[in-house]
Amino acid sequence: LSGKEIDKKVDETWKILEEKVKECRKCPLSENRTQSVFGEGSKKTELMFVGEGPGADEDLQGLPFVGKAGQLLNQIFAAAGIDRSEVYITNVVKCRPPQNRVPTVEECSACNDYLFAQISLVQPKILVTLGNTPTKWLLKTTHEGITQLRGKCFDWYGIKLMPMFHPSYLLRNQSRKVGSPRHLMWQDIQEVKARWD
Ligand code: URA
Repeated sequence: LSGKEIDKKVDETWKILEEKVKECRKCPLSENRTQSVFGEGSKKTELMFVGEGPGADEDLQGLPFVGKAGQLLNQIFAAAGIDRSEVYITNVVKCRPPQNRVPTVEECSACNDYLFAQISLVQPKILVTLGNTPTKWLLKTTHEGITQLRGKCFDWYGIKLMPMFHPSYLLRNQSRKVGSPRHLMWQDIQEVKARWD
């Protein structure tokens, strides 16, 4: 196959995948959604972000990280010199959990093929997990959480996996002191940017 033919196949695969997520009924989260939230951004990027799952705003707009946490994420990107349109952003689960509760293992499992397909298609150099849910899900850690895992770089099937705090955690912790969540997030995003460049 020529480069052009491969690109065409990849585009077709993305379309089929997006259609499958749109129509997905694999778990009960599909019963309460307005719509599923597939993901957004550059599909040819080396930098990919994975959040937990859609919130109320995302469920209404059909796009990831567009609510309050998303606005803070945009500010963090801007401060680090990262253009949001140049990265790919998605979530572990594609449908909003009721009252924004943490998705269950069953829900994450039901959605896992979609996430793995997205990661395989993007083939990022760096995969940033935002908060406990995507970090623990992908690294399969049971004892350590985001506080222990952030600031480290893991090898995940040849991809650099870098856990960071979830932006909504920063919304609940406004301090900017040395060692505060905001301060650590700032360090982590700069490290991500440096490794991406
Ligand atoms: N929180 C997430 O984890 N993902 C979103 O898309 C929005 C908020």
